[in-house]
Amino acid sequence: MSFPEHRPRRLRRTSAVRRLARETHLVPSQLVLPMFVREGISEPSPIGSMPGIVQHSMDSLRRAVAEAAEQRIGGVMLFGVPEVRDAVGSGADDPNGILNRATEAVVAEVGDALVVQTDLCLDEFTDHGHCGVLQADGSVDNDATLERYTAMGLAQARAGSAMLGLSGMMDGQVGAVREALDVEGFTDTLILAYSAKYAGAFYGPFREAVDSQLKGDRRSYQLDPGNGREGVREALLDVEEGADVVMVKPALPYLDVLADVRASVDVPVWAYQVSGEYAMVEAAAAHGWIDRRGAILESLLGIRRAGADAILTYWALEAARWLRAEL
Ligand code: PBG
Repeated sequence: MSFPEHRPRRLRRTSAVRRLARETHLVPSQLVLPMFVREGISEPSPIGSMPGIVQHSMDSLRRAVAEAAEQRIGGVMLFGVPEVRDAVGSGADDPNGILNRATEAVVAEVGDALVVQTDLCLDEFTDHGHCGVLQADGSVDNDATLERYTAMGLAQARAGSAMLGLSGMMDGQVGAVREALDVEGFTDTLILAYSAKYAGAFYGPFREAVDSQLKGDRRSYQLDPGNGREGVREALLDVEEGADVVMVKPALPYLDVLADVRASVDVPVWAYQVSGEYAMVEAAAAHGWIDRRGAILESLLGIRRAGADAILTYWALEAARWLRAEL
């Protein structure tokens, strides 16, 4: 009888050895919580396709962000749901628009205790639901949209946002917003570029969360799911244009892109575990078909292992509590 020459199982024998041998770790400071604030409501409003997630009122948002700061997660990413929309998304750069007012309120509440971030995109504010302004033929006008983004970016910076999340996938958006910020003296405002953002089915529940008006799709600006190299190219361009952090989104279906981007840039790389990823696990767990906590922590660890330095996830607070209890 010949014995195995190599015994990798030695590193798995006890939980103490496994803990010591573990390559990848997940800690609360690596988690960012996306949050929705809706204009004109006084009580939080549940989102049907995202059980456990709500559209916040101004008050409930403030309280929830204070709790996020207590949990010492990395940050929050704010999305606004306005009462009134129009063709150019006027609410986006209005200092009294819901997202800008909420940002001001949240920053007044928590200051720099966590990184307050804001979604910089027009889709929540336009009556057609696209991420940019439209030309007469209905197509998205890239360069006219950049002017809207710079106005929106300045409004968010003035409201106190520490980090602008550019999620619209327009060419040149990072460079345009960076330049506008610098000219106005906002040299310390960070830019998070959603560089490799793929067009697909996993944003479905989010569209309910923001009452999206979109008819049609975003395939003329978000990436084609078949393209990995193009995701890396977008990330490289964004770094060149001044992005402080680049992101891949969604996370689980694009872990290969995440790993490739991580290997190609020297800035932090984040991933967005999107609404559809959240809904799948919640739905399976609600049926008793999957171990909810196990699946959540394993998916987050997998995203970290593939190369994400931080993760936007709707489970940020709950995961942070679990992780702290494990220490
Ligand atoms: C655009 C934006 C979207 C998401 C984040 N920012 C929607 C889209 O591109 O259609 C999706 C996030 C999610 O699904 O959790 N403002």
